Amino acid sequence: MTGPAVISRRLFLRAGLAGLAVVAVGTLAGCDLVPSYTPMDSFGRVDFRQPLPLPPLNEGRMQDGARRFELVAQAGKSRIIDAGSTTTWGINGPLLGPTLRVRRGDHIEMAVRNDLGEPTTLHWHGMHLPAAADGGPHQTIAPGETWSPNWVVDQPAATLWYHPHPHGQTERHVYRGLAGMLIIDDDNERELGLPRRYGEDDFPLIIQDKTFNKSGELLETQRYDNGMLGDTILVNGAVSPILTITAEHTRLRVLNASTARSYNIGFSDDREFTMIGSDGGLLRAPVALTRLHLTPGERAEIILRCAPDDELTLRSYPHPQGLPTAIADATGASDRLDILLIRAATALTPSSPLPDELAVLPALEPPPESTWRRFDLRGFRINGADMDPSRIDVTVEVDTTELWEVRNAHDKPHNFHIHDVQFQIRTIDGQAPPAHLAGWKDTVYLPPRTPVQLLMRFSDHTDRNMPYMYHCHLLWHEDNGMMGQFVVVDPGETAGTPPPIRGDHGGH
Ligand code: C2O
Ligand code: CU
Ligand code: CU
Repeated sequence: MTGPAVISRRLFLRAGLAGLAVVAVGTLAGCDLVPSYTPMDSFGRVDFRQPLPLPPLNEGRMQDGARRFELVAQAGKSRIIDAGSTTTWGINGPLLGPTLRVRRGDHIEMAVRNDLGEPTTLHWHGMHLPAAADGGPHQTIAPGETWSPNWVVDQPAATLWYHPHPHGQTERHVYRGLAGMLIIDDDNERELGLPRRYGEDDFPLIIQDKTFNKSGELLETQRYDNGMLGDTILVNGAVSPILTITAEHTRLRVLNASTARSYNIGFSDDREFTMIGSDGGLLRAPVALTRLHLTPGERAEIILRCAPDDELTLRSYPHPQGLPTAIADATGASDRLDILLIRAATALTPSSPLPDELAVLPALEPPPESTWRRFDLRGFRINGADMDPSRIDVTVEVDTTELWEVRNAHDKPHNFHIHDVQFQIRTIDGQAPPAHLAGWKDTVYLPPRTPVQLLMRFSDHTDRNMPYMYHCHLLWHEDNGMMGQFVVVDPGETAGTPPPIRGDHGGH
């Protein structure tokens, strides 16, 4: 936090009464952004008191050589804060969804039933698969319907996730609770001796921010520049959670499943942790860090080392990341947030040392500069255009490597996500990325006015009519049109026509 102007506008927290209840008493005096968000500080103020819930593990059922999952999107009631219960949405339960676990090579069959009473979709974020199985805005599941995509998993071990993607309605559907993790295993990862026992030394941490009213009901609040910023932090659907550690090394699969908020995670004693995986799989080698910035949609696998009886807090630290101070304050980037209390047991199970090498990643060669594509993000538009579900923006030939130069032409935060592929960051502002951003990624932060070059290879699945999406993963931006569509076609083919979106609410 810098300067008295910021401190005078800080929110004061009343912790302990209703989990993370927050009362705004700041003023907007002297603020140059109207209306604005007031930076929050909950360091040391959260009354941590409930065990971290673990989403149930669902490995599907083997049937006729396929791994089959049955998922139901449904409404339910959840008591998230003490004040009372609220309507929430979940998969196979009232809030969030099971952790799906699959293996590389599996033939997956999904059966997704929509019991919500309004159209939705379910998107497998980070998965390489046919466009018709992707669960984007064109794969609407009408109320009462079941959608049954299938595909073969052909990508490295990774921590992916799934969430709805209905046209113009994604923010609301995710905010109400529809999201879950999707873990891919492979032989390489299995042989490295990494912590991998779910719920013992391997935990999902699904981090979200929400706002509740006095009776405990989930509130949709005002959108600031980047969307809704909640005053209450949840992990795996729970406020003020405590994780009890029982192993020397614990693997945390961290997912930023917030609609708008970014986090800059670290531990209260500033201890080093080791990042082993990014969005699309293991890094080449472990990377020691004390802070890690995660924008909406990004994941990281980290190893936390504990000694017996350690007690520490997982926090989010201020993270200007290239933002002017007023914009950092207005977008939650100046916030100081306590997320999770971690307590190590008195006796810890020994863990094997981390290997020096984790995975072999190909070096993607950039194509000739004349073929590079450029994407400028500004306002709610990409290259000056709003999302139009009937328009194909980009046509890619299968089995080619492309270079996309993406630029946030704005002082506000944005990020960029591409469906179907995992990319490698070639440069950020002309420089090679830091080691923790040098692995497989599907979502990347875009600092203001900074070109970011991405290399990716499009393979296997062609469909001239059915598009994949690329978009800002700040979901309010996405819903408002900051999204485009690409098709992958066979050599010599041209783009076709996307089918109309069924049950379209028309976006905004
Ligand atoms: Cu996580 Cu297009 O989505
Ligand atoms: Cu996605
Ligand atoms: Cu954006």
